[in-house]
Order: sequence, then structure tokens, then C-alpha cells
Amino acid sequence: MKTIKVGIAGTRGLSTLKGFRSIEGVEITAMCDLDEDHLNEAADKMGVEKRFRVFDDMLESDIDAVVIATPMQCHVPQTIAALEAGKHVMSEVTAGVSMDELFWLCECVDKYKKVYMYAENYIYTPTVQLVKSLVEKGFFGDSYYAEGMYMHNTSNLLVYPNGKTSWRSYWQDGVRGNFYPTHSIGPVMQWFPGEHITEITTFSPGVRHPYGVKQDSGTTTMCRTDKGGLLNIRTDCTSPHPHNMDYYHLQGTKGAFRSKTHGNDFNRVSFIGEDSPSHSMQWKTLEDFGEYLPERYKNASPDELAAGHGGGDFFIVKDFIDAVRGEKAPAIDVYTACEWTAVGLLSGISVTNNSKTLEVPRFRPDMPLDEKRIKI
Ligand SMILES: NC(=O)c1ccc[n+]([C@@H]2O[C@H](COP(=O)([O-])OP(=O)(O)OC[C@H]3O[C@@H](n4cnc5c(N)ncnc54)[C@H](O)[C@@H]3O)[C@@H](O)[C@H]2O)c1
Repeated sequence: MKTIKVGIAGTRGLSTLKGFRSIEGVEITAMCDLDEDHLNEAADKMGVEKRFRVFDDMLESDIDAVVIATPMQCHVPQTIAALEAGKHVMSEVTAGVSMDELFWLCECVDKYKKVYMYAENYIYTPTVQLVKSLVEKGFFGDSYYAEGMYMHNTSNLLVYPNGKTSWRSYWQDGVRGNFYPTHSIGPVMQWFPGEHITEITTFSPGVRHPYGVKQDSGTTTMCRTDKGGLLNIRTDCTSPHPHNMDYYHLQGTKGAFRSKTHGNDFNRVSFIGEDSPSHSMQWKTLEDFGEYLPERYKNASPDELAAGHGGGDFFIVKDFIDAVRGEKAPAIDVYTACEWTAVGLLSGISVTNNSKTLEVPRFRPDMPLDEKRIKI
């Protein structure tokens, strides 16, 4: 089996380290970061010899694949450069920072025929996977409504400890609308198999916080799917509130799921049954249905579990490597990444235009030019 050599750009990429190292025939051979101190500190810790400050220089090394974990505005330019250099790409969230970038991204993945996988890690938690499995086995009937919420006050990240302004001040808190939608959309879309988001509308209470940035004090985006499903996506990175980054709810014709919100709360499900008619349903603990967890999660080895998040941090990189080896399609492909990211980018236009409803393009290979635009 040919060894796959991986390069990592951005120190956040360290989260993939244990996962890659648990896979036979995969080596992390290069690391890139503009900040030389960060670079050396991380590469020393990881035992990586080849170090690059400039991303394009790393692409000239003998790596086969690259993890792009640099700031959001670097993802598309670096992905395009990597694809052009013949490297496979696993990209951090979000996929891009403008609709035009998303169209370029799809065109380049089509053109260079290398693997692009979107590293939406929230999909890989055992909770999300267990609910997905219950959906597939029909427990919920037809899914028709879901909520996803990401509350993460990031006001401490707008300026780096050395006093320099962080990219987050511009590309996150410097924009209107939902700049970070996919930790919420990705998981809930696992429970609407085969469906696509076709239109969105975003509401916001305006800008209420005291620290002088443009970002809304939370946004609520309603998304409609092509089969009539409704998603309610709330993202709030400015309001004073404890972190709550993975709250989800699913409603189907036969049952419901609500995730725990904090600490001692619990994940719960309820299904219509002989002892549980629809007018008097009771909650049960989700984990009581653990037998339905996908086999690979149930049988995860200690190394796979050690990668983090109940094995999720291993399975995401395993799916990427399987795609690089041609064993299966990327689990989250470029078209899906762009659909979910577009919801956020369009939400900025919606919320600044009286919550106008906007169409989400159907990202796919060879999209006609007429569809590569924002329809107002
Ligand atoms: N999936 C998740 O759970 C999750 C969590 C946190 C962050 N993220 C994503 O990870 C990415 C990085 O976020 P972060 O919090 O680590 O940011 P950060 O600012 O803390 O770190 C970014 C690093 O990238 C380096 N960098 C900047 N420009 C570069 C360039 N052109 N070439 C090489 N290196 C460059 C910086 O020196 C810095 O070390 C973002 O896209 C963010 O959205 C994802």
C-alpha cells in the first residue's frame, strides 16, 4: 500500500493528528504556519521535520494531501492552489467567504479531479450518528422539522494575545448574517437524507452588543428543503450567554429528538408506539438505543477513541483517507459543503434586506452559468 503523505496548514489542524497517526500507511510529513513560533512549537510537538511559512512552498514538497485549517478567508485560495498542484484537500469550516468563491471552488474540484472533503466535524459525534441511524431505520417516520443552534461568544478571540487584530474581527464579527452555519446545518441535514436546501430567510434582532462590531446579536435562519422540510438555524457569537454549540432538535411524523443543552441534562427521544400514543408521549434517553449506533462507532478501538469525540475525530480523517485511496466518495463533498456554506453567505443579504427570501443554488458538477449568481 502506497504511503499517503499529509501536510497540515494552520495549528487548528493538530486536531487531526491522532486520527491520521492511527491509520496505517499515513504520515504527517509537513506543517505550515505563517507564524514561525507557532509553527516550530507545533511541529516540535508533533515531530514533523518539514516546516514552511509559505503555503505554496509546502505544496512543492512531496505531500499527497493537505489539511487546510487556516483562517476562513484563506480556504478557497489555498484549496485552489493545492488542487492545481495535484494535492487532495480536507478543508476546515466554512468552505468559503463569498458566493463567487463557492462557484470557483466547485469548478476547480471538477477540473483537477482531486478529492475535496469538507471537515464538518460536528456530524461525526456519536449523538448525531445515532440519531441518523434511527432516522434511517424509520423510528422518526418522515423528518419534517429540525433546529440547530450554535451559541459561542467569541469576543475574546477578536484580538490575539499579542494585541494584533484577528481575522475573526473581519470575516466573522465584521459581517452581517450567519457567518458560521455548518456546525448546525451539517448535523441536522444528516436527518433529511437526500434532501437539499432550496431557500432561506434570516431574521435578527439587530446589533445590540456594546463592543462595536457589525455582527448581529444572533441570527435565526429558516431554511426550506426541496421536499418541504423546515430547518431553524440559530447562530449567535456575540450575546452574553454560556457556550451552547451543539443543540439540536428533530421532529418527524412518528417521533422526536432533543439534544441535551448543558451538563446534567440528557439527550432524549420519543417515538409513537403501542404504549405511547401521540397525545401522551414520554421522553426516553437516546443512549438507551445505543445498539443502533453505526458498527464502526460500537467497535472503535482504543486508538480510534483516543482521537477524540467518541471516535468522531478518527472517522472524519479515515473517511478522507478512504476517499484519497479511491475506496469511497468523500463523505462531505464540495457541493454539499457549498450548499451549507451558501446558507450563511445568503443570510447576510437576507438580513440586510428586510429578511428577504433567497434561493440557494443547487451546487453540482457543470452548473450552468445562469445558476451561478445570487437571485434577488
Ligand atoms: N471545526 C471546528 O470545530 C473548528 C474550531 C475552531 C476553528 N475552526 C476553523 O479553523 C480555522 C482556523 O481557526 P483558528 O481558531 O485556529 O484560528 P487562529 O487565528 O487561532 O489560527 C490560525 C493559524 O493560521 C495561521 N495562518 C494565517 N494565515 C495563514 C496563511 N496564509 N498560511 C499559513 N498559515 C496561516 C496563523 O498564523 C495561525 O497560527 C478557521 O477556519 C476556523 O473556522 C474550526
